[in-house]
Amino acid sequence: MRWITVLLPVIWMACETGEYPFEPATESGDRVQRVGDIEGDPTFGRQVYADQCQACHREDGITGLGPDLPGYVSGAAPIDVINIVIEGQGRMTAMGTAMNDQQIADLVAWLFEEWGPDTL
Ligand code: HEC
Repeated sequence: MRWITVLLPVIWMACETGEYPFEPATESGDRVQRVGDIEGDPTFGRQVYADQCQACHREDGITGLGPDLPGYVSGAAPIDVINIVIEGQGRMTAMGTAMNDQQIADLVAWLFEEWGPDTL
């Protein structure tokens, strides 16, 4: 029970100053983490890419609107890609509402199977 004597003053001080001691996680930040913990199935992910990404990034990921997707994926971590899909980046709008968690996990599993660090 000794921890509580340490914790309570910290909480009290945080309330007094009106500042929460830790940066509270945003809702979409929580979702990025959650999707990152899901095991994706690349066989379904290929279809998600065709439905959601291909119009802009083309089938090869290179000749579309965005920058070289295989090049990016080969040097990225899955969580980075999940973050871009959910939050958007620059000229690419956030796409988190277009897919459920499992679909994003499947998509990212496929992207890394296709273009991940071990494949190029
Ligand atoms: C409406 C067009 C559009 C769609 C749909 C789209 N993207 Fe993008 N994407 C872009 C553009 C444009 C950029 C460049 C963004 C910028 O300005 O940094 C981009 C950038 C990216 C990047 C970052 C690449 C880098 O080198 O920084 C990733 C990763 C990515 N897209 C993945 C996806 C995935 C996965 C999907 C499908 C869920 C998707 N995009 C759907 C247009 C799109």
